[in-house]
Amino acid sequence: MGSCLYGSVHLDRCRPSDVDALTAFLRDADLTVSGLDAPSVRLWVEWDALGAIVGSTGYEISDDGRHALIRSVAVSPARRARGRGLSLARFALARASEEGASMAWLFSRRSGAFWQRLGFEVADRGELAAALADTHQVRLFQQTGQLEREVAWSRPLAAPEGLRRR
Ligand SMILES: CC(C)(COP(=O)(O)OP(=O)(O)OC[C@H]1O[C@@H](n2cnc3c(N)ncnc32)[C@H](O)[C@@H]1OP(=O)(O)O)[C@@H](O)C(=O)NCCC(=O)NCCS
Repeated sequence: MGSCLYGSVHLDRCRPSDVDALTAFLRDADLTVSGLDAPSVRLWVEWDALGAIVGSTGYEISDDGRHALIRSVAVSPARRARGRGLSLARFALARASEEGASMAWLFSRRSGAFWQRLGFEVADRGELAAALADTHQVRLFQQTGQLEREVAWSRPLAAPEGLRRR
């Protein structure tokens, strides 16, 4: 899937040539930028009319394909609080489910209430690290010690109500 419309959000698959711009966008949003060009990482971006990234979403899939680590969900500050974040997150959940993942996980210290809106519950970070041991984000967080400071969240991907659009 190269380009698609999800709700009111127009998303393009992130190309290798977009990675530098996405890295800058995610740094501004204070999100992890490790592994953005890895084959296991699926990313989509939303561009504005001037060619700037204004939204992003994605996930990294485990080697066995059963677990998805949702990551890089961000909306530019000027566009927040209009439902775009939920649309971007739902898009990643739907794509991960289509790809065959049955469980979604993520790390979030600051945005728990946002993820609870999508059916996520606090999870055991050790379980997350075991299910997604091969992902860049888990490896990075283990190497840096950040794993111990993180809050893990998970939800099954089979529950259809969380995937409904607003
Ligand atoms: C988190 C983020 C993606 C939300 O984007 P957004 O477009 O403002 O989100 P929405 O408008 O869809 O918000 C939906 C609901 O979640 C709530 N919400 C939004 N951001 C939140 C946050 N950071 N913490 C808690 N709740 C939040 C909103 O209040 C809203 O609830 P309401 O409908 O009851 O008012 C955005 O704030 C962002 O880019 N933050 C920086 C990056 C980040 O932290 N990403 C998440 C980790 S991957």
